[in-house]
Amino acid sequence: MRGTFIVMEGPDGSGKSTQIELLKEYLDQKGQEYIVTREPGGTVIGEAIRGIILNPEYNEMSDVTEMLLYAASRAQLMKEVIVPAIESGKVVISDRFVDSSMVYQGIARGLGAETVSAVNAPGIGNYRPDRVFFIDIPEEEGLRRKKEQKKLDRLEQESIDFHHMVSKGYRKVLARRPDVVQIDGTLPIDEIQRIIREEMQSIMY
Ligand code: ADP
Ligand code: TYD
Repeated sequence: MRGTFIVMEGPDGSGKSTQIELLKEYLDQKGQEYIVTREPGGTVIGEAIRGIILNPEYNEMSDVTEMLLYAASRAQLMKEVIVPAIESGKVVISDRFVDSSMVYQGIARGLGAETVSAVNAPGIGNYRPDRVFFIDIPEEEGLRRKKEQKKLDRLEQESIDFHHMVSKGYRKVLARRPDVVQIDGTLPIDEIQRIIREEMQSIMY
């Protein structure tokens, strides 16, 4: 029995973590087994890689290095956590997945979709998310929310132009894909959660 693989995507501050916390409560109520994981990170090696990628002191990092580190963290997460959980019938909720690389590295850094796909392919194999929830939000609003919350990491400190490319990039990469549910991130938190739960009901066996 295969599990269900769910991904939350959207710019920084769009509300992914908030929605995942609420979805956990719902799955608990249903008695559904699940795991939650995040990118970059989610494994001991992945969290070490995360510390390198997001360190604001490493501003000499090349775009290619950045892409490879995200892919490395993801490959480890697939092998150690996501594949075993899917194969044992659990719901897997991942805070970001390869679409983040397609948008941030492929479009905003300009490395291109083909390169990002090729670099990520060996780590992902034939696994694909059953649903990607795309929480769409204007970039200024996302950054405003983040600034109120904590110190900004290396990517969050990028220029407003970079974040603008991220927002546009998301709409381009995720538009018209049958596995994507696009949600207006400026809606109230409860309303967004209602949409997510309704969709979950239709995809969980
Ligand atoms: P992400 O994980 O996508 O970076 P978070 O879930 O951490 O985003 O949310 C960033 C901030 O915005 C938090 O302070 C959160 O309470 C707030 N927030 C999340 N969703 C909404 C919403 N729909 N409306 C208003 N504020 C929100
Ligand atoms: P995240 O953990 O979502 O940050 P936070 O919890 O502070 O919102 O993501 C860290 C940053 O990494 C975020 O700016 C997006 C970026 N990122 C990429 O550039 N490429 C990727 O493949 C992934 C997974 C994230």
